[in-house]
Amino acid sequence: MNNTPTLHPADATAQPAPAKVPSRRVIDAPTRIFHWLFALSFVGAYATADGEHWRLLHVTLGYTMAGLLGFRLLYGIFGPRTSGLGLLWRKLAGAPAWLRALPQAPSVTQINWRQGQNLLMALTIVLLLALVVPLTLSGYATYNDWGAALGGHWMGEVMEEVHEFFGNALLFVVLAHIALIAGLSVLRRKNQALPMLTGRVEGKGPDLVPKNRAWLAALLLIATLAFGAWQWQQSPNGWVASGISTEHQRHQDDD
Ligand code: HEM
Ligand code: HEM
Repeated sequence: MNNTPTLHPADATAQPAPAKVPSRRVIDAPTRIFHWLFALSFVGAYATADGEHWRLLHVTLGYTMAGLLGFRLLYGIFGPRTSGLGLLWRKLAGAPAWLRALPQAPSVTQINWRQGQNLLMALTIVLLLALVVPLTLSGYATYNDWGAALGGHWMGEVMEEVHEFFGNALLFVVLAHIALIAGLSVLRRKNQALPMLTGRVEGKGPDLVPKNRAWLAALLLIATLAFGAWQWQQSPNGWVASGISTEHQRHQDDD
């Protein structure tokens, strides 16, 4: 018996099932997990920055960002070539030449705007990563009263101000980063945020990043959650109402 369905003449115009749109991997799983954990930690740390109530959560999210930065740097060094931070530097190194070419361009239409946009993106990314260093250091110093120990009360105040300044500087760069991605999505008529979710862009050809390394992404996620859980366990009151660090608590208990 022949079970092959025969096409009714009325169905002859029916479209065949659409073929899967070809796509290529451009961002691997560890980078994507890193990105969203980094972004979420920032939002959380910023939202809990004010007042003593959420202090431990704030500090934990801040350390999480620093830890994630450490991961990203190591992945940049030991990971695949495509995740190397040298790529970012090479892009930025083109900035002086691009700026020098600006006044010489015969007309605005002859300026390589796409390179300019990519330069701006690379610049915001470097700043997003780099700002976490002074932010964590100044936060740590404030939390542990280094200022007071070094130069008295006013020094502590300065440390706080420095920390707040870097916190707001990072917020500014984050907003620029998001605005740039939204702006480029409109300009290029293509959702520029999507690859950070799916890891892929539409198009034929081999994957630009051959391996997804989902196992490393899972490890990073577990390590981050474990750190949060460990911090929680260390705290006498959970996340809230812990205006004093566990270090301070221990000193007080000893007294
Ligand atoms: C809705 C919010 C966000 C969207 C849609 C988004 C999207 C993206 C996209 C598409 C890239 C890749 C850019 C490229 O290489 O062309 C990227 C990179 C990056 N973003 Fe975001 N981002 C968001 C929020 C944030 C936040 C809040 C932070 C940090 C506080 C952040 C930090 C970074 C970093 C560090 C990179 C470089 C990633 C790497 O190569 O390791 N992003 N983001
Ligand atoms: C990396 C992400 C971080 C961000 C975005 C951030 C942001 C901020 C901001 C904006 C404030 C000022 C709140 C205000 O008074 O208006 C603040 C306060 C504070 N942060 Fe952070 N912070 C981060 C990490 C850390 C870390 C890692 C620590 C400690 C180890 C820390 C400790 C503190 C302390 C103790 C204060 C209170 C200062 C005061 O008494 O005014 N922060 N943070």
